[in-house]
Amino acid sequence: MGTTFTIDSEFSAHFRRLHQVFMYITDRCNLECEQCIYKPSISHFINEEIGLEDALGLLNSFRHLGAGKVTFLGGEPTLYGHRHGGKPLLDLLEGTRALGYEYVRLDTNGQRISHLLDEHGFSSVDELAFSLDGFSAETNDPLRGQGTFVRAVDAIRKAIRLGYFVTITCCVQKVLLERDQNGTLLLERMIRFAEALGVRQINFHDLFKVGIPMDTWTGNFAPQPADWIPVYEELSTKVRSGHFSISVRLPQCFVSRAEFARNPDYYSYCPVKLGERVMVHPNGTIRICSNLICTAYGVATWGEGRISWERSNANELAKHDMERMTPCTNRSRHKKYGDLVPLCFSFKPGQNEYVWTNRLEWEANSVVSQSVASSS
Ligand SMILES: C[S@@+](CC[C@H](N)C(=O)[O-])C[C@H]1O[C@@H](n2cnc3c(N)ncnc32)[C@H](O)[C@@H]1O
Ligand code: SF4
Repeated sequence: MGTTFTIDSEFSAHFRRLHQVFMYITDRCNLECEQCIYKPSISHFINEEIGLEDALGLLNSFRHLGAGKVTFLGGEPTLYGHRHGGKPLLDLLEGTRALGYEYVRLDTNGQRISHLLDEHGFSSVDELAFSLDGFSAETNDPLRGQGTFVRAVDAIRKAIRLGYFVTITCCVQKVLLERDQNGTLLLERMIRFAEALGVRQINFHDLFKVGIPMDTWTGNFAPQPADWIPVYEELSTKVRSGHFSISVRLPQCFVSRAEFARNPDYYSYCPVKLGERVMVHPNGTIRICSNLICTAYGVATWGEGRISWERSNANELAKHDMERMTPCTNRSRHKKYGDLVPLCFSFKPGQNEYVWTNRLEWEANSVVSQSVASSS
């Protein structure tokens, strides 16, 4: 099923521990979010979609390399195959299951998903991740557009009613670091809002400016690193002590130099070095690090039945010191943060995420968790 791809040996060698695929199936979107990481591709796409045959062929190749989880996103993945009434999306989901993927997730803005939720072929997804950047129209709509909060929340309620495993993805905009009149962090109110809706998990994305091209198109919503540290401490303590009834994935983002030096194996988590994920785009790029989205850098290209290793200096591995345990390479190159060093945007301690817990068992690298384990 799908196109057969020949894979360059360098690619297979680097991705010996491939666990997950992020497939950007379409560059089309029905929103223009102010902070969108993907803005340049949405406004000027080279190919609108990854065709069904190519998508399944690529997924087949990645499955053979070991991938067990796939996330479909874009652009807005519910628009995939819109010229054919959306049937290609259902065929893609069915084909992905047939390839043996264990965990299938779809990221959506929730604006026109209602009809899909009723489709039998759609209900096979393991996780529907809805994007909401606030707990009210006032906090969400300045980023995602007028009316988006109400439409997304209606869709979330319907998906939960129908029995989907629903999660929320929320960008940590600086407003959410403020407190209400009771002294409660608005970020905590966001978690409480998700709990009350009945979603199973909330996953936060950071919006820090880190000295990379996307800083120029992701708006003016980033908190200051120094403001994030105490908020992270406060909330992660509450998460660890079981304060919330849903799972919370919170990016740590920064750590002191001394703490990094104490536990480098743990804090140096880097998907580029691990080769644990691929991000696949309609324009033929395959890359690993989403900090390089919409740049010329990637690890390989796909097309005409071949996955070709990037042999020029545009290979995103070129500037990584592959053997050393370092802070995030892409975030520490141009910006200095004083006593702090930046961590991978996906470094979310204690997170209940399929790859982090089942495949990588990353917490085992933590000196803290090892000593706790040995004393108990
Ligand atoms: C690019 S969107 C694609 C899927 C879908 N259109 C959506 O909005 O969920 C995937 C996720 O990236 C998040 N995102 C957008 N811009 C971001 C940024 N600058 N930094 C971190 N995450 C971002 C979105 O909020 C969304 O949760
Ligand atoms: S809905 Fe998703 S892809 Fe579309 S503009 Fe917003 S964040 Fe970007």
